[in-house]
Amino acid sequence: TEPLKVALLGCGVVGSAVARRLHDDARDLAARVGAPLQITGVAVRDITRPRPESGVDASLFTTDAESLVERADLVVELMGGIEPARSLLLRAIEHGASVVTANKALLGEDGPQLFEAADARGVDLSYEAAVAGAIPLLRPLRESLAGDSVRRVMGIVNGTTNFILDKMDRTGAALDDVLAEAQQLGYAEADPTADVEGYDARAKAAILASLAFHTRVATPDVYCEGIMGVTAEDIRAARKIGLVVKLLAICERTDEGVSARVHPTLVPRSHPLGSVREAFNAVFVETELAGQLMFYGKGAGAEPTASAVLGDLVQAARHRLDGGHGPGESAYADLPLLPIAQS
Ligand code: HSE
Repeated sequence: TEPLKVALLGCGVVGSAVARRLHDDARDLAARVGAPLQITGVAVRDITRPRPESGVDASLFTTDAESLVERADLVVELMGGIEPARSLLLRAIEHGASVVTANKALLGEDGPQLFEAADARGVDLSYEAAVAGAIPLLRPLRESLAGDSVRRVMGIVNGTTNFILDKMDRTGAALDDVLAEAQQLGYAEADPTADVEGYDARAKAAILASLAFHTRVATPDVYCEGIMGVTAEDIRAARKIGLVVKLLAICERTDEGVSARVHPTLVPRSHPLGSVREAFNAVFVETELAGQLMFYGKGAGAEPTASAVLGDLVQAARHRLDGGHGPGESAYADLPLLPIAQS
């Protein structure tokens, strides 16, 4: 079978891990897909920087992302940020490529425009890596629970802030004392205020609420309060009465519509979310039929995130071969969108 042409946009830690796996596991992946996945180019800003960890041949690096996406069957966007990621993804879709992205900021801001473009063109747009990294969460919400009805999603979806709060809880330290250590983990956003101010979790809450309740929640619709105001004293007082402070993304279906918010929350230590340590992520889902579900795992880091990206890539590649595509927005086209509750 002819190889499927894969374009990578961005080659940071996650991009390198994806490229490395595509190279090292080429035969296995080809067998799982039914055709080889061939990297035809990697778009980067600085072509001269060596990236030996990616295993990508130096001749494949390019700064011409536009032409690269026009010639690809599958485009993997791992550059982050709004532009040029948005224009490149739209261009890729327009040229008939299936796209995989981990870009929570872009999806939180402009998801609907991208979903519509992908549906209109009949290609996959998948983004499992955008929320809670390695944890298979978005596909279960969209597919496994498609016959059920989600009532509430509560998640620890930012590893950096969970690390900080957990460390404060265990050592009694002040936030400022553990901030630098959390950032050294390498999970923090390029702009670290995005973690501590809750912006990263807010974009993820918008994505989760949109998916869980079939509606369109954009990042600005989500109430957001970060952890900068949480003191060692708050944490000590909570501890005394069996509670722990967690930064939660809470998405609920109410009589007025859908509400989504991010803020520090007092959680009983006995609750599954109360025992989530270090930089782990966890998402607690309540549904009408299934009851309570807990999704737990690594929400950040090169390899865990690459796992989610590669899962999407394999799935999208299979769809290209069998001529179908995943259940995109059009699968729900006849359902009315739920309104967003005023908070
Ligand atoms: N900054 C994010 C976190 C990275 O700390 O969880 C993963 O999205």
